[in-house]
Amino acid sequence: MTDKLIIFDTTLRDGEQSPGASMTKDEKVRIAKALERLKVDVIEAGFPAASVGDFEGVKAVAQAVRESTICALARAVDGDIDRSAEALKAAKSARIHTFIATSPIHMQMKLCMSPDQVVERAVAAVKRARRYTDNVEFSPEDAGRSESDFLCRIIEAVIDAGASTINIPDTVGYNLPDRFGRLILELRERIPNADKAIFSVHCHNDLGLAVANSLSAVLNGARQVECTINGLGERAGNAALEEIVMAVRTRQDIFPCDVTLDTTQILNCSRLVSTITGFPVQPNKAIVGANAFAHESGIHQDGILKSRETYEIMRAEDVGWHTNKMVLGKHSGRSAFRAHLKGLNIEFTSEEELNAAFSRFKELADKKHEIYDEDLQALVSDSVSTEREHLKLVSLKVCSETGETPHAKITLNIQGVEKSSHARGSGPVDATFKAIESLVQSHVTLLVYSVNNVTNGTDSQGEVGVRLEKGGRVVNGQGADTDIVIASAKAYLNALNKITSPTERQHPQNTPL
Ligand code: KIV
Ligand code: ZN
Repeated sequence: MTDKLIIFDTTLRDGEQSPGASMTKDEKVRIAKALERLKVDVIEAGFPAASVGDFEGVKAVAQAVRESTICALARAVDGDIDRSAEALKAAKSARIHTFIATSPIHMQMKLCMSPDQVVERAVAAVKRARRYTDNVEFSPEDAGRSESDFLCRIIEAVIDAGASTINIPDTVGYNLPDRFGRLILELRERIPNADKAIFSVHCHNDLGLAVANSLSAVLNGARQVECTINGLGERAGNAALEEIVMAVRTRQDIFPCDVTLDTTQILNCSRLVSTITGFPVQPNKAIVGANAFAHESGIHQDGILKSRETYEIMRAEDVGWHTNKMVLGKHSGRSAFRAHLKGLNIEFTSEEELNAAFSRFKELADKKHEIYDEDLQALVSDSVSTEREHLKLVSLKVCSETGETPHAKITLNIQGVEKSSHARGSGPVDATFKAIESLVQSHVTLLVYSVNNVTNGTDSQGEVGVRLEKGGRVVNGQGADTDIVIASAKAYLNALNKITSPTERQHPQNTPL
């Protein structure tokens, strides 16, 4: 019998902490439902004490998901723990994850607390969380730079206090695989009550070693890995879920444990997270990159045709890749549209949302005769995101001609009032953004602008991503259309809608008052 490796996804919490990756409540629910279909064991849905929006996000996920355990993060203070418990009330299976820093540098410089005080606070936090649930996880933050004697002391105390999962974070991505694996083994061997808890790891990717460190920990007895879809996360990100899962699955000759995920859902999750956050997936990214299963060279293609195993260690279908198939056309009706989306696990929360998506589908089918699953996914994201925006695109006319300065005329609906403007620019996209700015006067800085084709061919939809910054706040916006200038306008407006909405949120790793 092989052990179970618990997959704890933190895309909605640690992933969301990457600058510009913040998500709305509805977006969080969509991702959480996709993670549930992937059969992720635990979903860390957020940090409820951060803001009212974060609290509502965790609450909505706890209500929507039935098959995965929903976890909320709390600093080791009563207020955070009580707030987490409140947000998790509707969950079928709930976990509270509390943490406090244990490295000398964090205890001295950030917390200004002595090691004794830190142990006392950790024990009190676990006991308080146990008042609400018997599923309590404790993390000694910056464990990767903490002294192992102190880790042994605090972990023994929190297990006695009732923690059933002990997570060892390499918060700053400082560790190397061999050393990190040995740390896990040492803790498991030295802590007298270690057998009363599951050991977990949470690795950051600052040295590009998050997945390697996590796998080394698994080989040394860790039975939970914390990870994110596409490796999303602060700075260089967290360990990528798809890489951990497929490494363990593919190398069953090495790992004494296995995951219980439905790996065919991996690509769906990857695309959804990329579309919602606006963080593109690099083409050569393992498992989910566009080239991950593409065989360019003649020798490889020849080998693959003779026997797939010559160059492929995994089956593309096992992670959700399939060859592009036309799925709907301009004569498809509403019920075929709804039924097909249901097959893609895309459901609508209201009839209005379905109607908006269906009319966008009809517009698209007029321009592009063959509609693929990828088109539908992009189109639905577009329809959902335009519903609640206070800046909406009404019309856009762009003129681009050799030897002439491009210009754009745009009409926006700004909080119910239509306004138009005209601008010139160095190209049609530049002219469009300038026309928008002359109406909105947001004074944002454009940090990133990218265009990707959704499917193959020149009739493909272009998916545009923009990243805007204002006063230190960074947001991403996305838009899709067969006309990439219109897609650009949609993406810019999508980001402006986010940047002008008020948010006041705390970072979980800030010291509590
Ligand atoms: O990286 C980290 O230490 C964390 C903790 C809050 C678990 O994200
Ligand atoms: Zn982290």
